[in-house]
Amino acid sequence: MENIARQQISINLEVMDMLNQQIAKEQHSSSVYLAMASWCDQRGLERSASFFYRQSVEEREHMMKIFAFINNSGGSAYSPDVTNIAHEYASLKEVFELALQQEISVTQSIYKIVAKCRKVNDFGTENFLQWFVEEQMEEEQSIRDILDMFDLMGDAPLKLIDERIPKE
Ligand SMILES: [Fe+2]
Ligand SMILES: [Fe+2]
Repeated sequence: MENIARQQISINLEVMDMLNQQIAKEQHSSSVYLAMASWCDQRGLERSASFFYRQSVEEREHMMKIFAFINNSGGSAYSPDVTNIAHEYASLKEVFELALQQEISVTQSIYKIVAKCRKVNDFGTENFLQWFVEEQMEEEQSIRDILDMFDLMGDAPLKLIDERIPKE
């Protein structure tokens, strides 16, 4: 029965497995950003905390987008385990540097799935992933802008740097 059901899905099965791994990555990002928000919140870095609370919600939305896509295509989406979330950071700058690393690794992962889609002619999923390709470019850019600001502000008090973190 499971085999029949799996034959009826419109996504390539290997692509579906990669999408399920992507679900886990988005949820991992969401949890990482929640931990970062907490770290900032505890230190009174309000704008940075809001930034990461917002990112955490967005990553969950990304996860749910893929989740719905798989199930709506007749596949099986899996609720991921989340482990290995760090809660200690050396500095606010390190928090943003790690966030950029996180985004870059997610971008690479999305690109791998797009490349796979092309290889197996899964154009429906490739089309679905275009939104993620654009989103990743925007998210990387917004964190790079913040890191540029850290470089420009140099040794300014943390509170002043925090006030320059974008509100939206
Ligand atoms: Fe994401
Ligand atoms: Fe992201």
